[in-house]
Amino acid sequence: MQLTIRDALPSDKEIILDFCKSTFSWGDYIHHVWDDWLDEGNFFVLTENRRPVAICHAFIIKNAKLIWIEGIRVDPNYRQKGYAKKLVTKAEAIAKKNDCTLSSMLIESKNFESLRLAVKLHYTRNEKWDYYFLVPRKICSATIRAKSAKEIARYLADSKFYIKSWRWLPLDAKTISSLIKEKKIIISKGQNRIDSLGIITESDHFEKTMMLTLVYATKTGIKKILPYIQNLTYEKKFERIQILTTKKL
Ligand SMILES: CC(C)(COP(=O)(O)OP(=O)(O)OC[C@H]1O[C@@H](n2cnc3c(N)ncnc32)[C@H](O)[C@@H]1OP(=O)(O)O)[C@@H](O)C(=O)NCCC(=O)NCCS
Repeated sequence: MQLTIRDALPSDKEIILDFCKSTFSWGDYIHHVWDDWLDEGNFFVLTENRRPVAICHAFIIKNAKLIWIEGIRVDPNYRQKGYAKKLVTKAEAIAKKNDCTLSSMLIESKNFESLRLAVKLHYTRNEKWDYYFLVPRKICSATIRAKSAKEIARYLADSKFYIKSWRWLPLDAKTISSLIKEKKIIISKGQNRIDSLGIITESDHFEKTMMLTLVYATKTGIKKILPYIQNLTYEKKFERIQILTTKKL
């Protein structure tokens, strides 16, 4: 038996998308990201006797010395043969070559096979996030954009990440000031105090999708920031809002 790990090729698309059609109960997203991942590179395919049977994409965040591993998929007919392990190990080797010191991935809390895979590869659970979604809607709302890092510093103190295109990106001081400049940090205020704070990003890979990293919200604040995002996405003719948070809503 001949096993190879190589870069994905445009000609692999059909056979791979065919085994990635119904990975999860809701389907899969690989078809949305295929072209972008080919362009970004570090998109690996494992072949058995020249047949593509597993994939994995690695995204290097140089300034944070971090590698984000995503899209691990093994054809159901070829599982439990150590292929996912081989692909992650390959991605980690690329990470080391690029001086990365940390490797991360996102795993759904009921995806027990993947959780076991991660444990086997010595990954530890770092943070637990909840996912919600909303639809755009025309609605009145009152929120403003954060103007200075100082006014929001204490609300961001415990937040290590914000999310863009389903990647958890480091939230360092430089990133916070660029997000402020790009008007991506949304706040609402009540009695002169911030009562909600969120970071919005438009997805690079998923069309008409806005992601909200909800960093902070009081009960009153949540009733301001969510309608604001609904209205904003309505005006921008977006189709969906995806909300990620570590806070209990
Ligand atoms: C999760 C997935 C990638 C594992 O791929 P795989 O090639 O079968 O995994 P491997 O053979 O490399 O297994 C590595 C380890 O994962 C764990 N594992 C994998 N499949 C498992 C299963 N069905 N039951 C229990 N543990 C499992 C085991 O600990 C295994 O190590 P071991 O065999 O030494 O005990 C594969 O099941 C898959 O494609 N699932 C759907 C997509 C998905 O969930 N992707 C990951 C998103 S984060």
